[in-house]
Amino acid sequence: MNIGILTFDSTLYTVKRLIEEGRILGHNTYSINTWNCQSFARTNHAKMYNFPEDTDIVIPRVGTALTPYTVSLLRHMEDMGIKVLNNAMGVQNAKDKFLTMQLLSKAGISVPKTALIGGTKGLGRIINDLGGFPVVGKPLTGSQGNGIFLLKRKWQLWKNLNHIPFGKGIILQEYIKDSGGEDIRVFVIDGKVASAMVRKARDGDFRSNVHLGGEGKAIEIDSETEEMAIKSARVIGLTIAGIDIIKDNKNKYIIEVNASPGFQELEKATGKNIAMEIINHAVYMVNNAK
Ligand SMILES: Nc1ncnc2c1ncn2[C@@H]1O[C@H](COP(=O)(O)OP(=O)(O)O)[C@@H](O)[C@H]1O
Ligand SMILES: [Mg+2]
Repeated sequence: MNIGILTFDSTLYTVKRLIEEGRILGHNTYSINTWNCQSFARTNHAKMYNFPEDTDIVIPRVGTALTPYTVSLLRHMEDMGIKVLNNAMGVQNAKDKFLTMQLLSKAGISVPKTALIGGTKGLGRIINDLGGFPVVGKPLTGSQGNGIFLLKRKWQLWKNLNHIPFGKGIILQEYIKDSGGEDIRVFVIDGKVASAMVRKARDGDFRSNVHLGGEGKAIEIDSETEEMAIKSARVIGLTIAGIDIIKDNKNKYIIEVNASPGFQELEKATGKNIAMEIINHAVYMVNNAK
């Protein structure tokens, strides 16, 4: 089988691991450079240049550099009849943190209270509804903890509001204080939990991202957490998803759904072969294509 890994950087751990496991399993596995692919559309026809046409399935690994451009690429591949793992719609839903909150809350999944604002009008009321200061400020898109702030006082909020990206807005979110800088990352593959770890923030930070020095430890999760994660992946439309969950003493909340979740720390912490499970699922998808 021909398996392409869509990436702008073939030296990334996840890309190397997928290629390695694909080859061990006997598949022709290679990277496809995101920026080299050129999409072409005319009436009733979609094609692509600089793209191996006999590719059976594409696995996008486009995490941090994901732009509308790569979503368009995935959509184009789907139009060409090529299988993708994950698809454009799921990737797009996950990329926009507010859209994720909208879809999850509508589906009855527990999320922190979240606001999207484009300006300062009536802000006092929103802060009240979020439970008062501190609140968490987030950009609409982003990952690895970038641009995520704990806003403790009004002046910090006003200072940050100077940086609202034009045409985008920023997210203000209820701060789940009792989460204690800890979150749970649940890795879902095709409606099943492949593995889970708990991540703890470095001293002095409230963000537990591995890229910021947060460290992962394998955990067993209860069935409620498992169900929340699986349902979230389904609602967002992802076959492969990294679901971030935080807890306080009463509730669990989904804070983010990642469409291109890293698994270096997860493989290290849990000893599981996540890359192989992803390849196995890609093969299953091609073999069971309708
Ligand atoms: N509402 C919140 N309350 C408490 N901690 C939070 C909240 N939102 C995010 N965090 C912390 O910040 C980290 C990064 O936030 P997240 O929304 O996952 O953005 P990113 O895409 O940058 O990972 C989370 O893993 C969590 O540790
Ligand atoms: Mg996150």
